[in-house]
Amino acid sequence: MEELKIQPIRNGTVVDHIPQGQALNVLRVLGVDSATRDVVSVAMNVPSDEMGRKDIVKVEDRRIDSKEADLIALIAPDATVNVVDDYDVTEKHDVSMPDEIRGVLACPNPSCITNTREPVETVFDVRDDEIRCEYCGTVLTDEIAEHLA
Ligand code: CTP
Ligand code: ZN
Repeated sequence: MEELKIQPIRNGTVVDHIPQGQALNVLRVLGVDSATRDVVSVAMNVPSDEMGRKDIVKVEDRRIDSKEADLIALIAPDATVNVVDDYDVTEKHDVSMPDEIRGVLACPNPSCITNTREPVETVFDVRDDEIRCEYCGTVLTDEIAEHLA
């Protein structure tokens, strides 16, 4: 019922079941900023039977790759990624928590080898809700969108 308020899209990706307040972080992970050329719609605080309130992000004519899906899982563990093709949902994927994140995040420790001797690709291990730099052990404490490389 609540979906009636939000325009369906013709082609692209709908990230649904985002926790309330996380839509903008999902957009950051998808690289959507003021310079984007993508057609993007964002719904926040939408009533949801399962979640009370939820956010939804729709990006037209875009697919989401596995690295992006891994980052979405960290922000929105219950997110559903829907592929829309000619107005139909043709694929629906749950996101799953990755074991590690390679390359897309920067370590906040300035003396970490990933910041001092390039090119060393960053690797963060995901364990027990902690995201830890494999090289220096630094744990990311604030939102991961703050650490996008
Ligand atoms: N959607 C869209 N444009 C379309 C088709 C679907 O924006 N042309 C959106 C819907 O609004 C919804 C999501 O894609 O947010 C998934 O659509 P659908 O599977 O039809 O909805 P539900 O069955 O409610 O999904 P779920 O079972 O995952 O909650
Ligand atoms: Zn580090």
